[in-house]
Amino acid sequence: SSAPTLFQPLQIRGTTLHNRFVVSPMCQYSSQDGILSDYHLVHLGQFAKAGAALTIVEATAVEARGRISPQDAGLWSDEHVAPLKRIVEFIHSQGTKAGIQLSHAGRKASVLAPWISEGHGKSLATSEFGGWPDDTVSSSAIPFASNYATPRELSVAEIQSVVQAFADAASRAVTAGFDTIELHAAHGYLLNQFLSPLSNTRTDDYGGNFDNRTRLLREVISAVRAVIPESMPLWVRISATEWMEWDGKPTWDIEESIRLARTLPGLGVDLLDVSSGGNNSSQKIEISKHYQADLAGKIRQVVQDEGIKLLIGAVGFISEAEMARDLCQEGGDTAVASEEKGIPKADVVIVAREFLRDPHFVLHSAQELHVPVKWPNQYHRAPRRTH
Ligand code: FNR
Repeated sequence: SSAPTLFQPLQIRGTTLHNRFVVSPMCQYSSQDGILSDYHLVHLGQFAKAGAALTIVEATAVEARGRISPQDAGLWSDEHVAPLKRIVEFIHSQGTKAGIQLSHAGRKASVLAPWISEGHGKSLATSEFGGWPDDTVSSSAIPFASNYATPRELSVAEIQSVVQAFADAASRAVTAGFDTIELHAAHGYLLNQFLSPLSNTRTDDYGGNFDNRTRLLREVISAVRAVIPESMPLWVRISATEWMEWDGKPTWDIEESIRLARTLPGLGVDLLDVSSGGNNSSQKIEISKHYQADLAGKIRQVVQDEGIKLLIGAVGFISEAEMARDLCQEGGDTAVASEEKGIPKADVVIVAREFLRDPHFVLHSAQELHVPVKWPNQYHRAPRRTH
């Protein structure tokens, strides 16, 4: 019998992923002035060495004030390129692909790294902690929560400079050798702030109706697509719902996400990475093991029914080989695959915390599912326990 889809290659434009395992972007709060270090080389390199098809570098800020914490990665200057290139080259040396998530935190910028915040009992990074609470920006001057900075509303000219910053960072990512770029439009960061009518109350061309609220994201996508090679895949991560349906007010929900998904292939987006939440401190998430994969499945169902050329990535709570397999499998377990038709919920599985717990998650999944995969040459005596 042939290997599960999970272990089959996937070609996206000029890049072929050798399986469907993707390392989700994860902030490490370990950069200085946005510059990655040896820590990142080891951290990211371990996943590439152990068979993840695509390792995506953490949320990387397109301008300094777009960092979440003062220790976030950045790509707002040419100085940032060389350390990233070194990481990309290592990932490539392992026969795998490298991606980078480009991001702007907007009103969620200037917060402390979690372990610093825990020590001080507050979340805002004030200037003594290297923060910039008086220089955060957003679609509207509405803070994320009472313990966050109040952002300044971006002018239209400033919005254009944000678009340019994304394009410039994308150019630098190409120079660094990345195979794939993911735009971060999820988790309540700047692009997400514009999408939601709860955080975007503008009355100009960038707020109000669906077209206006999605305008910034669409402009960023087009500007990035224009500076990256035709052969380079472009991914977008969204929060498919902001989990505010309970409030009864207009909100960014699965219907708007589906509407957005229909527009993406025409703009040159290849894959939609379906996450959720993070834009409201009063969100109410209906948690279950599949809560987020179900959102991916709903969108993938529409994409398939309407013949839309858009791949779908599932993320969230994927920590078992069987779940990873079934999410990608045609006719897979209907408890996991889309309800009626048993179509896959996703084309790739994007995994975060399980890779932290087990950097060998791909190799261990293969063992569990009895799929023969090659371990690194240097580890060839490891896979089989002999006692
Ligand atoms: C994250 N997450 C995240 N998401 C994102 O889009 N960009 C990022 O930089 C980060 N940073 C980050 C750091 C750490 C330490 C964790 C644990 C998570 C969210 C992550 O990519 C993923 O969407 C969620 O963790 C859900 O997937 P898992 O962990 O259930 O596989």
